[in-house]
Amino acid sequence: MARILIAYSTLDGHTRHICEHLQALLQIQGHEVPLAPIEQVGQAELQAADTFVLGASIRYGKHRPNVMAFARDHAARLNAMPSAFFTVNVVARKPNRNTPETNPYLRKFLRQVPWQPTLLDVFAGRIDYNRMGPADRLMIRFIMWLTHGPTDPTAVVEFTDWQRVDAFAQRVHGL
Ligand SMILES: Cc1cc2nc3c(=O)[nH]c(=O)nc-3n(C[C@H](O)[C@H](O)[C@H](O)COP(=O)(O)O)c2cc1C
Repeated sequence: MARILIAYSTLDGHTRHICEHLQALLQIQGHEVPLAPIEQVGQAELQAADTFVLGASIRYGKHRPNVMAFARDHAARLNAMPSAFFTVNVVARKPNRNTPETNPYLRKFLRQVPWQPTLLDVFAGRIDYNRMGPADRLMIRFIMWLTHGPTDPTAVVEFTDWQRVDAFAQRVHGL
């Protein structure tokens, strides 16, 4: 049994939802699994953990700056422990963009930070036009139109492959 700290960076809650699912699965395996927003994780929390998992979503092409800063500031500790990182975005709904090797946001993340996670994954996210302000809704509908995604302004579409999240939990358990 290990202490597996799961941290998340979310704006609309979908990445937190994925992390809660991971937490439940890892608890069933007998692990102690604290869950916290990335803002609440520092050196002390990392030192107290055996394994670290971070999930972060994409907005307009980027992970939040505090995610990048975290991965830089804590790289020494992170590289010395079993760790996992996953990104959540809707580009990953495309079969040719949904692996650590082919997802552009994950590739960019790895180029920009010295942290080299033991495990990597990419999960397709969720589009909920009802939760967006008018400017974001217009922009995302336009991007979806360009990329053959849902454009109905009331659409709520979850692209997440939960079996893949389950498989990721199993791999974290095996770290
Ligand atoms: C305003 C806005 C901008 C987004 N920009 C991108 C983007 O550039 N690329 C992408 O693949 N997904 C993008 N997404 C999709 C989000 O990554 C997806 O909705 C994800 O599930 C959000 O996770 P969260 O609720 O944890 O923040 C965007 C979503 C919103 C609402």
